[in-house]
Amino acid sequence: MIIGLGVDLAEVEPWAQALVHPSAAALAGTFTALEREQAAGGPVDEAQRLAARFAAKEAFVKALDGAGWGAPPLRARLDLREVEVRLDPWGRPRLCLHGEARATAEQAGVRVAHLSLSHERGMALATVILEG
Ligand SMILES: CC(C)(COP(=O)(O)OP(=O)(O)OC[C@H]1O[C@@H](n2cnc3c(N)ncnc32)[C@H](O)[C@@H]1OP(=O)(O)O)[C@@H](O)C(=O)NCCC(=O)NCCS
Repeated sequence: MIIGLGVDLAEVEPWAQALVHPSAAALAGTFTALEREQAAGGPVDEAQRLAARFAAKEAFVKALDGAGWGAPPLRARLDLREVEVRLDPWGRPRLCLHGEARATAEQAGVRVAHLSLSHERGMALATVILEG
């Protein structure tokens, strides 16, 4: 059963800026070391890939908030690094949840989190479906 759906569109430029000024807290506060590593590898622009991962985190929050319709919004108390995008050896993305994000998803009855990413020039898109 589908218990949540989330979509998010993210601009690439803020992440391109964050890469130029790496002292800013945005990168470290948003992405795990694995996400940084996987976004940096390969021929695709790193800022595009970071924007897609940021969109995935936002889409997850929307999907989970949808699952808890009527409950207080989750966004304010979620560490985005707990919603991690991992690529399998063939480049397919999936969500790996940690800590509070994982506990909250389990509490909402989530068994599987489906993720799809896309990016093109200045924009990146992510869709998350939560299955219970
Ligand atoms: C997979 C494919 C559809 C991606 O489409 P695209 O237009 O090139 O790129 P998009 O921006 O829309 O999507 C990119 C994201 O798709 C995801 N992705 C890649 N391969 C995927 C797959 N097999 N299944 C699901 N998602 C995949 C990745 O997360 C990627 O983002 P990332 O590199 O930042 O992690 C494209 O590579 C394709 O058409 N493949 C055809 C099948 C094929 O030839 N497979 C073998 C490739 S070696």
